[in-house]
Amino acid sequence: MAGIYIHIPFCRQACNYCNFYFSVSTGNKEKFVAALLKEIELTKNYLAGETIETLYFGGGTPSLLTIEDFRLIIDKLQSVYDLSTLQEFTVEANPDDLTSKKVNALKELQAFGLNRFSIGIQSFFDEDLKYMNRAHNSEEGLASVKRVQDAGFANITIDLIYGTPTMNDKHWRENLARAFALNVPHISSYALTVEPKTNLERKIRNKKALPVNEAQAAAQFRILMEEMREHGFEQYEISNFARPGKHAIHNSNYWFGKKYLGLGPSAHSYNTISRRWNVANNLNYIESINNNILRYEEELLTPAQKVNEQIMTGLRTKWGVSITNFQLPIFNAIEKNLKQIDASHYVLKDGVLTLTDEGKFFADAIAAALFVD
Ligand SMILES: C[S@@+](CC[C@H](N)C(=O)[O-])C[C@H]1O[C@@H](n2cnc3c(N)ncnc32)[C@H](O)[C@@H]1O
Ligand code: SF4
Repeated sequence: MAGIYIHIPFCRQACNYCNFYFSVSTGNKEKFVAALLKEIELTKNYLAGETIETLYFGGGTPSLLTIEDFRLIIDKLQSVYDLSTLQEFTVEANPDDLTSKKVNALKELQAFGLNRFSIGIQSFFDEDLKYMNRAHNSEEGLASVKRVQDAGFANITIDLIYGTPTMNDKHWRENLARAFALNVPHISSYALTVEPKTNLERKIRNKKALPVNEAQAAAQFRILMEEMREHGFEQYEISNFARPGKHAIHNSNYWFGKKYLGLGPSAHSYNTISRRWNVANNLNYIESINNNILRYEEELLTPAQKVNEQIMTGLRTKWGVSITNFQLPIFNAIEKNLKQIDASHYVLKDGVLTLTDEGKFFADAIAAALFVD
């Protein structure tokens, strides 16, 4: 079983917190699509022999693609892969793109297996959206989800960001209440991170934007966990919540260490032996693919790196890390390191290590303390 991820490297407007790879000039979109079709051809052996379980268009902003663009890409994929085995086909979409016309057009892709939308709501309040420099307002956010539901897509996830200095706790609870009222089966929610070299980081440094307060973000993470539990959502990964049976298959497969092929600028691929990542530059990507060259960097994974990745990702999930599956010296090292961790932060049961709610606040530090070398 394997997944295919396609990175669409364009956005209408730069959200000030974002450090994913994208360009706000869409002039090269046609050339990009042509290069992508060629990349599909050039990488066709990467997942040789694998059944394709998931297809994910992420970004950037996939909803900037026209239906014709989608059709070209899917046709090409179909010429190389058997997509009849797809269980989940997700498109990330921004609310400002989801007009009735666009949503109707996207319905056509149901015939190719499209069965899930990921909508970047971030907040249902205008002051937060303005702080983040989002291209949509709160009304458009609500309307976009309803439009997608009315078009017959029930399997929707929305992204919400907390810890924005414009948002107090009451306001965060209200945001969550609006999300629950929409009756979507999946919600991803992240603490606002101030990434280096983003406009947000510059603005905060120059005192042009309010700084982010870690204590506020922590309090809102606690509210998030409580509210989700109360509303029947399971926290199956630190930032991902689903109604029973509605967890994201594509993303979960990353955490289970399954193979995936990433296409498009900056996309990552994994085949259990190495990780590789495409050049994060549209022009370089297009130019090299036009010359039949795949431009990527690659890292062969050492046994220790593989163990550490399992610790890092597994600890964030409800499935945890099965430490008894590791070879004895590794198991012993992890058990020894566990003694340094606050006992209220984890549970070790039947050889599987998971984090408690308290532990989830320190997931990265706990993982780092358990790493082997
Ligand atoms: C790369 S974006 C793609 C989705 C789509 N382009 C959108 O913005 O609606 C995936 C999600 O990551 C989250 N995200 C990206 N950068 C973040 C940051 N610095 N802090 C918190 N969340 C972030 C946002 O919730 C965003 O929707
Ligand atoms: S959050 Fe989404 S829309 Fe905003 S810049 Fe990043 S990828 Fe683009």
